[in-house]
Amino acid sequence: MLDPLTPAATPLAAGSTFPGGAPTLAELTTLRVGGPVREYVEAQTEAELVSAVRAADDAGAALLVLGGGSNLLASDAPFDGVVVRDARRAIDGVGDDACAGASLTVPAGQPWDDVVATAVQEGWMGVEALSGIPGSAGATPVQNVGAYGQEVAETLSSVRVYDRLERRTRMFAVGELGLGYRTSLLKRSLADTAAGGGRTWGPTGRYVVLEVSFQLRLATLSAPVRYPELARTLGIDVGRRVPAADVRAAVLELRRGKGMVLDAADHDTWSAGSFFTNPLMSVAEADALLPADAPRYPVADHTAIHQIGGSAPVVEDLVKTSAAWLISHAGFEKGFGLGAPASLSTKHALALTNRGGATAEDLLALARAVREGVRAAYGIELIPEPVLLGAAL
Ligand code: EPU
Repeated sequence: MLDPLTPAATPLAAGSTFPGGAPTLAELTTLRVGGPVREYVEAQTEAELVSAVRAADDAGAALLVLGGGSNLLASDAPFDGVVVRDARRAIDGVGDDACAGASLTVPAGQPWDDVVATAVQEGWMGVEALSGIPGSAGATPVQNVGAYGQEVAETLSSVRVYDRLERRTRMFAVGELGLGYRTSLLKRSLADTAAGGGRTWGPTGRYVVLEVSFQLRLATLSAPVRYPELARTLGIDVGRRVPAADVRAAVLELRRGKGMVLDAADHDTWSAGSFFTNPLMSVAEADALLPADAPRYPVADHTAIHQIGGSAPVVEDLVKTSAAWLISHAGFEKGFGLGAPASLSTKHALALTNRGGATAEDLLALARAVREGVRAAYGIELIPEPVLLGAAL
């Protein structure tokens, strides 16, 4: 585990590029595919980050701001633009008293799992089920990261961003972020002109996250455990609380079992996590499209939790099914394609993996086959979760 206060392992001089040339996107992403980049900047301060973004925008260059690189599938072709990696690390800005709880602010580049580890260690409740998720803290509001019954929507308080349209920093309170299942106003600016201020943006959205603030309750017990699989692993009923450290350990164990904790030696983790989101549909659509034995989960609105640790109200007439189930039952079991450079993970059907020598095209071909297979079997269109750079399904 990284000491959260330790700076990046190999700090570079302000605004410098890698000696000997920029790294390739394969070196910067957990899928380990992607071509060379024209220009690479590693920002050590907020001023450097903002100035690199402004310079790219002024030059009309394509811009990619990267955190952990765990949610990106980049094409093999050269990226004719600027990649900015936010190398800042700090867990500070903590106000901590019994009434107000812990107010925590972290720079966007801070690796997320160290935030969770610190929270559990310090007795700050509300993010323990989000253990072991790769990537940076700044990415968590963009797609409202969630797992094992928790979403960051429950504990986020505000996000400070650089607005590329208005060319200024701005603050969004949690209620202004338009958070939903794996989405936010920040993510919507990629495809939706209303969110983008009259245009679309990409591969980095209109808003570059600078800093994320969380409001956590002081408690060494976890929030009530909502996810049945996690409750089973802990040997408790859904809704009970246990020491947060036990939840963290159980989630890490579950995630490892699914190949969802990064491990350079295990090709099942050379992935972007879940490659497709779980489809949402109306009850009528679910009745028409889904076989009787397909999972149907209630959709909970985590943005409507007004008390830390409170329960999320169920959204009427909306059903979430399991992309992994649809994929497996459409004939793409775990390990599908093994032997080829790209295959499904042997531990979870929802992760597309690089077995060592895969190209982006290998992964895209696999993604297309899976998406087409599910469409043919169930008439449901799976939506990729990672950002696709220079590539499309
Ligand atoms: N299943 C299969 N085959 C498999 C794996 C799963 O059929 O190979 C079926 C099972 O029926 C299982 C169901 O899929 O009960 C759901 O699987 P799981 O509990 O592993 O969760 P998931 O819906 O696939 C979501 C998130 C994960 C998060 C887990 C745990 C999405 C797209 N994925 O996965 O988040 O960790 O729940 O809460 O929402 C991510 O978003 O990248 C991510 C890893």
